Amino acid sequence: MKKVGVAILGLGVVGSGTYKILTEHREFYKKTHNIDVTVENVLELRKERALELGINESAIASSMAEICSNPDVDIVIEVMGGVEPAKSFVLAALNAGKSVVTSNKELFCKYSHELEKAAKKNNCGLFYEASCVGGVPVIRALLDNLQGNKILSMMGIINGTTNYILTKMSDCGASYEEVLKEAQKLGYAEADPTADVEGYDAAYKLSILSSLSFHTKIPYTEIYREGITGVSALDISYGKKLGYTIKLLAIGKNGTNGIEVRVHPAFIKSEHPLASVSDSYNAVFVTGDSVQDVMLYGRGAGALPTGSAIVGDVIYCATHPNHSYSTFKNTEKADAATKFVTNFESAYYLRLAVKDKAGVLAKVSAILSKNGINVAQIIQPNEKIDGAVPLIIVTHLTRENSVNKAVADINANDSIAKVETVIRVVSD
Ligand code: HSE
Repeated sequence: MKKVGVAILGLGVVGSGTYKILTEHREFYKKTHNIDVTVENVLELRKERALELGINESAIASSMAEICSNPDVDIVIEVMGGVEPAKSFVLAALNAGKSVVTSNKELFCKYSHELEKAAKKNNCGLFYEASCVGGVPVIRALLDNLQGNKILSMMGIINGTTNYILTKMSDCGASYEEVLKEAQKLGYAEADPTADVEGYDAAYKLSILSSLSFHTKIPYTEIYREGITGVSALDISYGKKLGYTIKLLAIGKNGTNGIEVRVHPAFIKSEHPLASVSDSYNAVFVTGDSVQDVMLYGRGAGALPTGSAIVGDVIYCATHPNHSYSTFKNTEKADAATKFVTNFESAYYLRLAVKDKAGVLAKVSAILSKNGINVAQIIQPNEKIDGAVPLIIVTHLTRENSVNKAVADINANDSIAKVETVIRVVSD
């Protein structure tokens, strides 16, 4: 029986879940993998958290150095979150010859090049399944099972907080602010929700997933990012009438003109498999040239789902002594040969507030036409909002720059109309 000692850095939600899984399943892993996994150390400032979990006081380390010098620790599990001190601790563990399992998307997204360098130098493993989409095994799928493919695209709902908020707004017609407050009360949203609602969390994950998918470094700074704070119940309800569901989508495409990576709210057809991914659930829809479409669905956060991903990595690490690393040159910046498409192609939903008088539609159409935008649908709901009439336009596929130019042209002429909302529509 192989003995495997682990240390857990941080006993918050995920750290506690991981501890529970490891201790409750200890006998099971002995039988299934012939390994005896024990928690040798924890590092947690709030000692009472460790004691409540039944951890022996002697296992509570007083410093990272103590863990690094403990010969019984083989694998360090980092579930603290944030960049520092997590980064220094992970580097210290790797330099002490310990393999690392982390759930930290921000750290891995921003510094995987440094962490991987230290892991290689010390012949240690570096595992990060829990960094993206919690319990959904998307990293291992990309690293192993889908290697036979050229990944053409991926589209995912990879942030549970925003999916919960958009689902509730959609179900109840409530405003963003109302639902956010309720989500905070229920623990689905943080007191400071910025990372989730502004799309940073999804962008960190997309950076990791698209780098793996497209075999080149995609820094998160190359990702177009727009959060959900501007999404209104009114647009969600007009979208529904058009057969659309609103989602915060993370999209990566590898096309002939280059790589396109973006996170933004989007309307998708209500019959698309991603449209039925509700509440705090996550899903990733990957298209490979051979496998075609694959969809992975499940819990993207939470103590046991994320703990499941971490423990999976621990077992993988313990049973695969030869470590492997990125399939691409893992540098800080994108490779000079990587081209990014920013003027991407999409269909668009536009909601305008217009004056109810003759000729307005003709003027709006003329501007769209001048910018090469082909209209697929146009609806004028029979209602007034703040004295103006809403005009809903859905375009055929067009380019981001054309839409931006058309919106600026419409808004520049205040006698016509004002564009209140622009939402991209996923038409495939
Ligand atoms: N805050 C994330 C979410 C979970 O809402 O999905 C951890 O990344």
